[in-house]
Amino acid sequence: MMLRQTFVFSVALAGATAPGGVAANPIHWQPCVEPDFRNSTPPLSCGNLSVPLDYTDLNSTATVVLQLVKVSATSPAPNGSIIFNFGGPGEPDRANMAELASYLLLATGGGHDLISFDTRGTYNTLPFTCYTDDVTRAVATYSVPTFGRSSDTALGAQWANGELFADRCYAANNLTGSLIGTAFTARDVMQIVDAVNEDGQHDLLNYWGFSYGTLLGATVAAMFPDRMGRVVIDGVVNPFEYYHGYDVEKYTDTDKVFSGFVKGCVAAPEACALAGNNVTAAQLEKSLYDLLEHLKYNPLVLASTVIDYSTVKGAIFSILYSPYSWPLLATGLHGIMTRNASELLELVSLVGSSSDPLLNEYLAGIQCGDKTPRASELTEMLPFVNDLYQRSNFSDIQSAVFGWCANWRLDAKERYSGDFQVKTQNPVLVIGNTYDPVTPLASALNVSHGLEGSVVLQHNGYGVSFSVFLLY
Ligand SMILES: *[C@@H]1O[C@H](CO)[C@@H](O)[C@H](O)[C@H]1NC(C)=O
Ligand SMILES: *[C@@H]1O[C@H](CO)[C@@H](O)[C@H](O)[C@H]1NC(C)=O
Ligand SMILES: *[C@@H]1O[C@H](CO)[C@@H](O)[C@H](O)[C@H]1NC(C)=O
Ligand SMILES: *[C@@H]1O[C@H](CO)[C@@H](O)[C@H](O)[C@H]1NC(C)=O
Ligand SMILES: *[C@@H]1O[C@H](CO)[C@@H](O)[C@H](O)[C@H]1NC(C)=O
Ligand SMILES: *[C@@H]1O[C@H](CO)[C@@H](O)[C@H](O)[C@H]1NC(C)=O
Ligand SMILES: *[C@@H]1O[C@H](CO)[C@@H](O)[C@H](O)[C@H]1NC(C)=O
Ligand SMILES: *[C@@H]1O[C@H](CO)[C@@H](O)[C@H](O)[C@H]1NC(C)=O
Repeated sequence: MMLRQTFVFSVALAGATAPGGVAANPIHWQPCVEPDFRNSTPPLSCGNLSVPLDYTDLNSTATVVLQLVKVSATSPAPNGSIIFNFGGPGEPDRANMAELASYLLLATGGGHDLISFDTRGTYNTLPFTCYTDDVTRAVATYSVPTFGRSSDTALGAQWANGELFADRCYAANNLTGSLIGTAFTARDVMQIVDAVNEDGQHDLLNYWGFSYGTLLGATVAAMFPDRMGRVVIDGVVNPFEYYHGYDVEKYTDTDKVFSGFVKGCVAAPEACALAGNNVTAAQLEKSLYDLLEHLKYNPLVLASTVIDYSTVKGAIFSILYSPYSWPLLATGLHGIMTRNASELLELVSLVGSSSDPLLNEYLAGIQCGDKTPRASELTEMLPFVNDLYQRSNFSDIQSAVFGWCANWRLDAKERYSGDFQVKTQNPVLVIGNTYDPVTPLASALNVSHGLEGSVVLQHNGYGVSFSVFLLY
């Protein structure tokens, strides 16, 4: 009897008016028809959910449509759903789910439906873009240095371009650019939980987030602690730095991962083109840093590509995420050292294919709006730049983001402003790798400290903890 009453009560809640004055509506799942999703194995269902456009405007009935995909549990009696976020912010979450569905079904035992959605600010949901077309975008970004230490003028160029970028983004998004922050996305996540809770039995969030998905996860947990079911945050971002700082902790272990790449190479010369001539790890590491320094002043053309400081440093940094690709990185670097184009081709195609030109805009729109620090002069930033540079030889990839966010003109309309000290309904599982180039164990320990009852699972490995799922 008691059970039945609970059941009826929950159904009534699910149909009730949600904050913002919009009735929570169920999702009508259908086989996906979009080309990217329709031939997936296992098959995907697609669905839309209308949610409040502006959760802070309680009188408004304006809505925005979230686009979702679902992989159905293989078990006949599934235990509810798990919502996934694959990072960024702004990674293509539906497309990532399509790519990874079979692995994630295995990893979760088939007992749950797996759901992901493109977060607001990306793709078809309030997409945050700052240029009218790809040509304008390419012209605007062509000369902006990727790394702050690529020359002694690069930092200033990044700063000035950051100001221009922030102005353009403001002009192009002044009506919706403040409605795409992580706090609103956290509320969207709970709207999805409400909508899929059609049986009234699954009103807790089950969630698995990677990288930025851990920032979203920590934010949802802090905003809705009593609604946390099984929550995993995997490859953790320090949320204090994300909202109120400069993300310097990200680079705590990056150089150690690079050293690990070099040591692994020397230890397995048969698998590593760089390991010839009885070279020691220390010698090889020095010669690779020397190569970067040499390329700074002497770029070369190989495999129809300009090989310079930034391209090589960027390739190394991105492949540090994924030890599975380290042999390929070694071959490519050897190709550069010996001017052998054929050894470089695979690396060029791997690194060249991985970036959607819109990702920077999605990332900036969400992250810079979430962040609180602003500055009006580069000199105000120099102490933070200095701190950043102390962390790693690769950390200067972050200085361009300093230029965007310090000049940003679109504050997220809602930000989680608490201290992440909460007792969640169920303990959160926090996962970190010992040697992670961008989501270090230190950040996992930091978040876990606040989430009462949480535990840190330390995986004694290299790369990002989710590199088993990376496609390179
Ligand atoms: C979701 O909405 C989009 C845009 O309105 C539409 O093109 C698409 O067909 C809808 N998908 C489903 C599954 O209803
Ligand atoms: C919202 O609606 C209430 C009641 O209708 C009204 O008193 C209030 O002024 C409205 N607030 C805004 C911000 O429009
Ligand atoms: C659902 O959860 C219950 C309790 O944890 C477990 O016994 C059962 O095997 C689960 N079912 C599936 C399909 O995973
Ligand atoms: C916002 O954008 C609209 C349309 O582009 C423009 O008319 C308006 O002046 C802008 N508002 C501000 C405050 O810049
Ligand atoms: C490699 O270096 C070690 C230690 O310096 C030395 O004993 C060995 O003879 C060297 N081997 C070759 C092939 O040069
Ligand atoms: C370039 O590298 C390939 C693959 O390792 C090798 O077969 C070839 O002999 C090299 N070419 C030269 C000129 O060294
Ligand atoms: C950068 O690389 C050099 C070797 O070239 C090393 O001595 C230094 O400790 C590294 N780390 C930082 C943060 O500069
Ligand atoms: C977590 O990180 C923030 C930002 O670096 C720092 O202020 C805070 O003291 C850290 N908390 C713990 C428990 O280490």
